[in-house]
Amino acid sequence: QIIHLADYRPTDFVLERVDLTFELDPTATKIEARLIFHRREGTDPTAPLILDGDELSLSGLLIDQNEIPAERYDVTAEKLVIRDLPESTPFEVTVITIINPEANTQLMGLYRTNGVYCTQCEAEGFRRITYFPDRPDVLAPYTITIIADKAANPLLLSNGNFLGGGNYDEGRHFAAWFDPHPKPSYLFALVAGDLGVVEDTFETMSGNEVALKIYVEHGKEPRAAYAMDALKRSMKWDEERFGREYDLNIFQIVAVSDFNMGAMENKGLNVFNDKYVLADPETATDQDYANIEAIIAHEYFHNWTGNRITCRDWFQLCLKEGLTVFRDHEFSADQRSRAVKRIAEVRHLKAEQFPEDAGPLAHPVRPTAYREINNFYTTTVYEKGSEVTRMIQTVLGRDTFKKGMDVYFERHDGDAATVEDFVKCFEDASGKDLKQFSLWYHQAGTPLVSVSTAYDSASQTFSVSLEQTVQATPGQPNKEPMHIPLGFALLLDNGSLASASSVKGGDVTGEVLHLTERAQTFTFGGIGSRPVLSLNRGFSAPINLHFEQSSTDLLHIVRHEPDLFARWQALTDLALPVLMKATRDVRDGRQPEPQAELIATLLEVAADDTLEPAFRAQVLALPSEADIAREFGSNNDPDAIHAARQGILADIAKAGQATFETLFTSLVNEGDFTPDAASAGRRALRNAALSYLSYLDGGATRAAEAFASTNNMTDTIQALTVLAHRFPGQSETANALGAFLKRFQDNALVLDKWFAIQATIPGASTLARVKALMEDPHFVASNPNRVRSLIGSFTFSNPTGFSRADGEGYRFLAQQILAIDPKNPQLAARLLTSMRSWRSLEPSRAAHAEAALSEIDKALSLSTDVRDIVERILKG
Ligand code: ARG
Ligand code: ZN
Repeated sequence: QIIHLADYRPTDFVLERVDLTFELDPTATKIEARLIFHRREGTDPTAPLILDGDELSLSGLLIDQNEIPAERYDVTAEKLVIRDLPESTPFEVTVITIINPEANTQLMGLYRTNGVYCTQCEAEGFRRITYFPDRPDVLAPYTITIIADKAANPLLLSNGNFLGGGNYDEGRHFAAWFDPHPKPSYLFALVAGDLGVVEDTFETMSGNEVALKIYVEHGKEPRAAYAMDALKRSMKWDEERFGREYDLNIFQIVAVSDFNMGAMENKGLNVFNDKYVLADPETATDQDYANIEAIIAHEYFHNWTGNRITCRDWFQLCLKEGLTVFRDHEFSADQRSRAVKRIAEVRHLKAEQFPEDAGPLAHPVRPTAYREINNFYTTTVYEKGSEVTRMIQTVLGRDTFKKGMDVYFERHDGDAATVEDFVKCFEDASGKDLKQFSLWYHQAGTPLVSVSTAYDSASQTFSVSLEQTVQATPGQPNKEPMHIPLGFALLLDNGSLASASSVKGGDVTGEVLHLTERAQTFTFGGIGSRPVLSLNRGFSAPINLHFEQSSTDLLHIVRHEPDLFARWQALTDLALPVLMKATRDVRDGRQPEPQAELIATLLEVAADDTLEPAFRAQVLALPSEADIAREFGSNNDPDAIHAARQGILADIAKAGQATFETLFTSLVNEGDFTPDAASAGRRALRNAALSYLSYLDGGATRAAEAFASTNNMTDTIQALTVLAHRFPGQSETANALGAFLKRFQDNALVLDKWFAIQATIPGASTLARVKALMEDPHFVASNPNRVRSLIGSFTFSNPTGFSRADGEGYRFLAQQILAIDPKNPQLAARLLTSMRSWRSLEPSRAAHAEAALSEIDKALSLSTDVRDIVERILKG
């Protein structure tokens, strides 16, 4: 069954209030839902009330407290239909259901994890708790009463403000919560159990005191300190940057160890995957700290962009997600190095979203049809959605963008809104027509912009010719030209920026060139000498550029661009063709040529102490194997890519030995560990140096020494990765993996890293290792983090292992999907998206991939989640 945006219509009944009583029991939790409705004005007075369910059974049904005769309703596990309801007066429906949280392995609705009751209701989990109009445009205030055994569940939490509680019967107690802010059911949350807490307070800009609480397993309280700090910084930042103030007297976060996603923004009671809460120097890497900061901020920012203003329907998901990702990106950029943050964002976008947009799962940021909404929590909706928001800011300028946001908050507070509503706010704030711009929401696929330039010394003009194309994507064969805002600079010989006396051929505002036609030539006047064009600065538009710039011009950008992001981009543009050429050489049995120019440039940047270490580390990371495969786009041989890239890394190591020795010895942080961005940057550069040194004599010994002498998880993981990935068969590696396991076997999040490092060891033999690790007593098949760390790391991040030539990797994935799907369809469907680029493999691997996908497709009973993905991947 496919849901279409065009079929949207409001409900026949308006929900006024929700009153829920939970009697918690591990296997038989009773929920009494009292719902007050009235018929929407102007709707059919005979229309029945239709409520959603999912695997429910009805234990009781009353209308205005009276039993309802059987002929007035129909009920199945998925639907409750009630007829003959009052024409205009409000009425109360009481629904009683009994559910089994212990048996809920899907982790949607109410479930138990490590003895803790918790909920995940987005997108359609609430209907697994009670029959309900489970859609985001049905908003109401909620009153919640929770009754549970007191000894096992001293904590009883829900959304909103605490009303009160007390003892109940037979060792049970109760608590009541009231959330005055009308909300849709997907924002409902309940948590009960026995957890430790970290407490703090925050004073809002108008002087309200908010109690802040983060709940974690007993004993882990010290590891929640960084999350608490990030929360307070997020609250402050949203006040300063967007004028958004928190609106309840309490804000709570609960960390749980079994969670399908990263975290969830339930009103006043966020539930988190504990991976994004818990951190200390001994167990968390710098990346973990950065993720925690970003996700704590993201979920907090949803309080305004998502909760106060929610989505009319799930097609509008990017309205809250794209915007909130943009907000968390801006937050992190303000807390850390903006340029380095931008490089990391673009790396992530290109690694995850670009392949999605170029393959069978491509869909618009604002889709118009879906079969399973869970499959649309994608990098296109989130990350491309964020880039589209960023482009609105680029097109309008920062001040006008801020005005548009103010209009949005003012106009739509309390609404379930649409993307059109959002865009209209910016049109009204700016007086600009954003119709063409809105194609970014509606057309899937990454635009390709081809560029050529010409300088004419006689007329002192510089012209830039641009042509855009957007490839066909499933369901969208033809595309219209888009409005592509391209940040640019004209760099003169001495490194200064040229400013033109005139521009013809199109719209240029400040440092942004607006490409709006299919083909367009911009001519800049008054340019005294031939400039070097730096285009798509700051990655102002999420596009592919086809621009054959000479290496001299690229080097000029590397040395002189004031924008560090553009320098990194130019270095990437220098390196990619070299890596591709080396790949072709390996594939065709030729000896790859030495690459003196690229190597010298990289080493010059590596040694340049005027540049921040984190930036230099990003440069030394080089384009990944996946980046190279994406650039080829078709006929990919992961083994050739790997061999070619390794060859170049070894050449860089040889040429740069002295530089890397110096970096490795000089970049030791003094004093105690701190997770700040500058210290993290020094660790990143030092570890990049260690990684290069591993290509030289004594590499394994040096990595083993580094492993033995670290005082923080970042350095430990880097040294262990170098050992495992470069010297998988050596005793140093076996010893280090063993020591690591022994030390951290009781820490699930650290064990995940142990599994992931081994799952990503390059080469065909890693499949056997992964299979063996699945038999390890530490492997827990029911824990999504563990499954992702072993199986997900292998399928998403190990091209030579997963895509081994005989197709065994794909057959392994097919088996895993079929085994996981009956228990946790969301997890299975997500893992399966690792096959999204199968058509870009060389023919024999592609044939193996197709056969494995067909195996899944042939299975008789698949979840809608997996059915949807496998069919789209095969047919798209
Ligand atoms: N809204 C959550 C977030 O982005 C993610 C929830 C995902 N849920 C799902 N069923 N896919 O913060
Ligand atoms: Zn979100």
